[in-house]
Amino acid sequence: MQTINNNRRSFLKGSALATASLALTQMPAFASGFSQKVTAISLDTCKKMSAVDMAFESQMVLASKQYLTDQINSINDWSIRNLVTDIYRQPTPMVLEQLDNDNRTAVWKELLAKNYSNSDLDHFLPNQPVKQADYHAFYSAPGSGYGSHHSYPGGLATHLAANVHITNGIVNTYQETYNYKVDRDIAVAAQLLHDLHKPLVFPWLKDHSCRKENTLADTGEHHVLSIAELIARNMPAELVVATACAHQAPMTLAHQQQIAKWLDAAAIINGIDPVRYGLLTKQQGQLRLNEIAQQEGFICHIGDHDYVLSVPAVQQTLPVLRKIAHEQYAIADDDHSAFNALRNRIYSLYSAMQIHAEFSNHGEDRIKAMMLAAVQP
Ligand SMILES: [Fe+2]
Ligand SMILES: [Fe+2]
Repeated sequence: MQTINNNRRSFLKGSALATASLALTQMPAFASGFSQKVTAISLDTCKKMSAVDMAFESQMVLASKQYLTDQINSINDWSIRNLVTDIYRQPTPMVLEQLDNDNRTAVWKELLAKNYSNSDLDHFLPNQPVKQADYHAFYSAPGSGYGSHHSYPGGLATHLAANVHITNGIVNTYQETYNYKVDRDIAVAAQLLHDLHKPLVFPWLKDHSCRKENTLADTGEHHVLSIAELIARNMPAELVVATACAHQAPMTLAHQQQIAKWLDAAAIINGIDPVRYGLLTKQQGQLRLNEIAQQEGFICHIGDHDYVLSVPAVQQTLPVLRKIAHEQYAIADDDHSAFNALRNRIYSLYSAMQIHAEFSNHGEDRIKAMMLAAVQP
């Protein structure tokens, strides 16, 4: 278990410290990870920080960025590698850009007719994002909706890095244990791309929280939109199907129909025929999942199970952070913006996973010390 090497009292002395930024905490490097430096800032400074500022100050997020870059470069297929590189640099929603007003209305009507959406015409898709500098949108995005897993600036990067680590582990395990190889390019690329439209679906808001997600075809809209983006960019059917399995493995016929529904919705948004594209087949008038990239799809789904722990990690530590925010920082319960800024910085620097582990093993005082090392009241 790591320990914090700073003495809290030493940095609480002196009024100048209230606004100064000081390098305070040097946490030991992980066995194969990164050196975790934490610099204290004032609460006022924290409240003024953007999500990009927070993400790019976090050694954890930067380490995830480096790992993801290495993994993208390890993809052998140049067209897939280029696509992932482009999307991480600028997650431009080409799938939305190609929709003019007439197409948009036609898509909405078709989604409604199939019960894939229950939103009105103005809200059935997210708004076009404001273009940011290269890498900023992707690497400052949260890992999910606010209050769920990795919901902090840079959370998407840590989610993806963890998932790709796990995916590589599965690919290698199957090879070493069962003596066969899956298509690593498809398995790893599907994992790298499975949440590609979270920057679009979860933009940061003024109060430091993020947009609430709609559903599309009975799942979070980011899922259908991410698959739709791969279709818009003409990616191979195997990669699209494997990515579509992130939210459900095709274990039973009912599961296969569920995945087929997501692919059908993604095809509708693109105005393409999912059967001709090779995503689905038609059997007795019913759309069925095409039986391609099967193990890679299962692996994508298994590799996306980080949420089992990372959702409770947020939900079980938020009340602790809120209590400390109230007692140490005098943040009123209804001052959501101040609390969100504080919690974003804390999670972004340490991760909710580490906060959860430290709280489980050492209790509230440890979390208090970690928070005060990062933000001074
Ligand atoms: Fe997802
Ligand atoms: Fe995910």
